[in-house]
Amino acid sequence: PRVSVIGAGNVGRTLAQRIAEKNLADVVLLDIVHGLPQGIALDLMEAQGIELHDSEIIGTNNYEDTAGSDIVVITAGLARKPGMSRDDLMNVNAKIVVEAATKCLKYSPEAIFIVITNPLDVMTYLVWQATGLPPQRVMGMAGVLDSSRLQTFIAMELGVSTADVHAMVLGGHGDLMLPLPRYCTVSGVPITELMDEITINRLVERTRNGGAEIVKLLQTGGAYYAPASSACTMVETILRNQSRLLPAAAYLKGEYGLQDVYLGVPCRLGCRGVESILEVRLTDAERLDLHTSAASVRQNVHLALD
Ligand code: NAI
Repeated sequence: PRVSVIGAGNVGRTLAQRIAEKNLADVVLLDIVHGLPQGIALDLMEAQGIELHDSEIIGTNNYEDTAGSDIVVITAGLARKPGMSRDDLMNVNAKIVVEAATKCLKYSPEAIFIVITNPLDVMTYLVWQATGLPPQRVMGMAGVLDSSRLQTFIAMELGVSTADVHAMVLGGHGDLMLPLPRYCTVSGVPITELMDEITINRLVERTRNGGAEIVKLLQTGGAYYAPASSACTMVETILRNQSRLLPAAAYLKGEYGLQDVYLGVPCRLGCRGVESILEVRLTDAERLDLHTSAASVRQNVHLALD
């Protein structure tokens, strides 16, 4: 198989490395900067004999080279600097993702699109609209990352292996994301049985600010190792048709009482993309939070289209 990664910055190049070293697919890494994707691809290829994988990594500035991709992952665009919100990136990134998606579709009409560029839910909607693809074939990566952050914080707090922790974060990828502690477990035991409410609320807040915490530490950009791992999990699930239940930004057609919006919900991912959306039972307060999150995404889509 073949995966094109658009944007050879921190997230794109790390994702290319993960896909290649896991031997999942050949990777085409595309960027607007001349020499950058070529240099990174060559550097990664020069490690092939040591890492012992068979994936070819091609760096290019030309969309023709992405032809025949099974999956296109869009990471092109600006990342946050300290003090910026994801929404501050909107106008610049909207143009970039729409152009990237339209050009990729021309050469890979069968591809499934995974959007990473922020603000995530808005960019995913714009890619869906610009490509005119069935919504199952366009999704956004955020929930796997946000859930993985919460999973990490729970494991750190309890001193248990992250492998035993399962966490679920829904909603938009931003301050209005919806971590669901009721659905977080350690080896099947709900964390609400293992921690008091104050501790849980602290971990939830840290998850909400998980991206900003790293932006503040790095000063030069945002997180990329965990984002690349999260996107790679989605790529693997689709290529291997694994039917894993992962939170992803998906197009809602009435699920959770929401219409015509992209938002993070639990999705069964497989070779056709979003195979189905699972509706988990929410409390009235959680449902209200999800609707607030949706309203904010919708408002931003309108602003981006203006
Ligand atoms: P980066 O600045 O390291 O890389 C972005 C790359 O995009 C640069 O190499 C740039 O040359 C390229 N680019 C810009 N315009 C382009 C165009 N028109 N065509 C092709 N390439 C173009 O940024 P980083 O850290 O890789 O982040 C990328 C995006 O992903 C940002 O918007 C960031 O906010 C977002 N992100 C989203 C996450 C999520 O959970 N959804 C997690 C982490 C990052």
